[in-house]
Amino acid sequence: MPIAAVPEPKANMGKPEPRYDARLKVTGAARYPSDVPVGNPAYAFLVTSAVAKGRIDRLDLADARAVPGVLEIFTHENTSELKGGKFGEGAGTSIDKLGPGIAHDGQIVAMVVADSYEAAREAAYKVKVTYSADQPSATFDSDGVKVEDATKVSEQHKKLPTKGDAEAALAGADVKIDVQYATPTQHHNPMELFTTTCVWDGDRLTVHEPSQFVYGLKNGVAQRLGADPDKVHVLSQFVGGAFGSKGTMTPRTALVALAAKKLNRPVKLVATRDQGFTIATYRAETRHHIRLGARRNGKLVGYSHEGWEVSSRPDPYVVAGVEESAHLYAFGAVATKVNIVRADRNTPGFMRSPPVVPYIFALESAMDELAEKVGIDPVEFRRINDTMTDPIEGKPYSSRSLMKCYDEAAAAFGWKSRNAKPGSMREGDWLVGWGCATAVYPTHVGVATARVRMLPNGHVRVQTAAHEIGNGVYTVLAQVAAERLGVPLENVTVEVGDSSLPPAPVAGGSNTTASTSSAVLKACDAIRDKVLHSAATANDSTVGGQAVSALKLDNGMIVAADGKTEKLEDVLKRAGVIEAYAEFVPPGVKPEAVGQLYAGKSTQTGGPHGEYLMYALGAEFAEVRVHALTREIRVPRIVGAFAAGRILNPRTVRSQYIGGMVWGISSALHEATEIDRKRARYVNDNLADYLVPVNADIREMEAILISEVDDKVNPAGVKGLGELANVGTAAALANAVYHATGVRVRDLPIRLEKLLA
Ligand code: MOS
Repeated sequence: MPIAAVPEPKANMGKPEPRYDARLKVTGAARYPSDVPVGNPAYAFLVTSAVAKGRIDRLDLADARAVPGVLEIFTHENTSELKGGKFGEGAGTSIDKLGPGIAHDGQIVAMVVADSYEAAREAAYKVKVTYSADQPSATFDSDGVKVEDATKVSEQHKKLPTKGDAEAALAGADVKIDVQYATPTQHHNPMELFTTTCVWDGDRLTVHEPSQFVYGLKNGVAQRLGADPDKVHVLSQFVGGAFGSKGTMTPRTALVALAAKKLNRPVKLVATRDQGFTIATYRAETRHHIRLGARRNGKLVGYSHEGWEVSSRPDPYVVAGVEESAHLYAFGAVATKVNIVRADRNTPGFMRSPPVVPYIFALESAMDELAEKVGIDPVEFRRINDTMTDPIEGKPYSSRSLMKCYDEAAAAFGWKSRNAKPGSMREGDWLVGWGCATAVYPTHVGVATARVRMLPNGHVRVQTAAHEIGNGVYTVLAQVAAERLGVPLENVTVEVGDSSLPPAPVAGGSNTTASTSSAVLKACDAIRDKVLHSAATANDSTVGGQAVSALKLDNGMIVAADGKTEKLEDVLKRAGVIEAYAEFVPPGVKPEAVGQLYAGKSTQTGGPHGEYLMYALGAEFAEVRVHALTREIRVPRIVGAFAAGRILNPRTVRSQYIGGMVWGISSALHEATEIDRKRARYVNDNLADYLVPVNADIREMEAILISEVDDKVNPAGVKGLGELANVGTAAALANAVYHATGVRVRDLPIRLEKLLA
C-alpha cells in the first residue's frame, strides 16, 4: 500500500542546489568538534596496549608524572567509577574498562592529561606498563580462534535466508561454479581524527565529538558516568569523515568526560592516526564460499553462500551480507550460512555499506564467472535472472530498475563493442579489460522527529538532531522546507548535530534523508495547516470566513478556491511564530520507538524486512588497463547508473556516487590493513603505508541518475543512496581485470603482484 502520495518535484526539491554548507566548508568557517574553542583546556594523550592478549601486571607512572605540566594520569586504578555495560553495537562497546585485562592490541590503558599537548604526549611515552602477555589469535587460520554460527550468537542475525533444496538444485545444474573469495581488513582513516572535548558546568556536561548519533552518544555517556542524560549535551555540527566510524560510542568519550570532571577543567583529546586503528571501528576481513548453478539457457537454479567474518572476543559483531545478496536475483534454491571467527582483536563495526561491500563483491564476481562459463554476456546473464519479486519469500520489490541501470550505463560505456574473449582488447603494451557488476543497497527508513518554526518575517527554522556527514542533510532539509512552505531557499535555516534538538536516527544505513525529510515534511504540513487555519479564521483576512479546505499556500500567497488571495506575510504578522513538532514513525514500527529514540536507540526498517523489498540498485561498468609486462593496473574510466527513488538534489547525489566509486577503486586495488599474525597488531597504521587512491589514480567517472518513482518506501519517495555506489565497483574492476588478463583474482585488493604469476 502506498503510504502517501509522492509530491511532484517543483520549487526546490529535485533541484541541484549548491550545498547549504559549501561556503562554510571552503572558507574554513565550518567548525568541526575539536575546532570549537573552550576556555582553559587541558590536553589528553592516550596510552594504548602494546600486547593483544593478557593483563597489566604493573603500571609505573613516576617518570610520566615528573614531566612538567602533567595534571593527572588516568588508568584502571583510578577510574573504577566508570560503569560497565553495553550501549549500542560496534567498536569496543563491551570494552569499557581500561584494564587490567587486555582484549586487543591498541586497547586504551591510560590517558595522560596535561597543561599542553606536548607535555601530555611526552608523559604518555614515559608511562611504563608491565604485562603478562598470552599468545593472541590474530585472524583466520590463527591458532585459538573460535568459529561460531552467527545465527546462534548474533541478536541481529538469528535467521538467514534460505529457500528450497540448494544442494539438490546445484547437483542438478547444467553449469556451475564452486569458488572462494576473500576481502581484507580495512580501516577508516577519516580526514578528521577521533576527537573528544568535554566541558562541565556544575553537573551539566557538554561533549564536542564528531558523531553519527548524538542521542546515542548523549545517552551512552550518561550511562557510563551514572549521570542524568538530560544533563548531557552533545554537539557535532560538522563531521570530517564518518562512514560508520563515528556511529557508535567508543571507550574514549566517558574517560575524557570523567577526566574533565575530576580536574574541574575542560579536557580535549585528539587521538593520533595510528590510535584511530584500534580505538574506533573498521571493516573486518571476510571469506566466502559460493556455489552457483544455472541451466544451459542461463537461468539460475541454485545459490549457496557461506561467509566467514572476523570479530572480537567480547562482541559478536557481524555483517551477514547474505541477508541482502540472497534477494538480488531469481536464484531458485538458496542456502546461506555465516560464521563468526572470534579473534583477539578490537571489535569491528560499520564501514560504508558494511554487509554488501564484501558479500556483493563475492556474488558479483561469481555471476561474472558463471556468465562466462555458460557463454552468455554478463549483462544478458543478469537480465535473464532479473526479478521483481523476492526469490526467498515471494514479496514484491517496491520498485526495481536494475536492468534500466544496466541498459543506460552499458550504452554510455559502449559495452556493445566489447570482445568477450579475455586478453583480446590489447592496445600496444596495455591489456584492456571491461567488466560490470551490480550495486545494491537496502532502503532504510528510521523513526525521526523534527521541529519547524515559521517566523513573522517569513523565515523558517528547521531543527532536528540529524548528522551532516557529507550526506547533504543541511541542504536537502532546507529544500524540503522551502518547497513545502513556499518560501525561498535562502529563508530557511537548518540546525542539526545537536542533542538539544528533537532526535533523529543514527546516520547509518543511508537512512538520514529519507527519515528526516519525512519528519520535516510532516512538520511543514502541520505548519501549513496552521497558516491556512489562521487565514481562514481571522476577521481582517481577505480570505477570512472560507473553509480551510478551500485554501492553498502557494509561493508566499494564500490562494482561495474563489480566487481571493492573501499574502503569507500578512497572516504571519497576525499569527506570530507558528511552530510544529512532528514524529515520523515508518509503517510497521511500534510507536514506542519514538521514546526509545529519545533514550538513544535508533529504530530502522526497510530492505528485506517489510511488506515490500526495498532496495536502491545500480550498474557499474569499469575499464582497466593492465601493463603487459609490469602488470601495473590503471582505471581510465568508470560509468555507473543508479536508481534510488526520488532524487532531492542531483548535485549532492552525484558527489555521493562519485565518492562511492572512488572508494570502490580503493577497495578493489589499494586498501588493506596488514596484520602481524604473531602479535595480532596492525602494521600499516598510517597514511603513508595504508594505500588509498590519489588524484592521479582517478580518471573519468560518470554517474548517471536513473529516474524512479516509488510511493511505498516513505512519504518523500526517497531511497538512501550514500552507501550504494561503492558496492559494485570492486567486482566490476575484478571482472575487468579478468577480462584484460585472463587471471581471476578472488582476494582483494588486486595488486600487480597477484597478476605476475
Ligand atoms: Mo554507514 S557504514 O551505515 O555509517
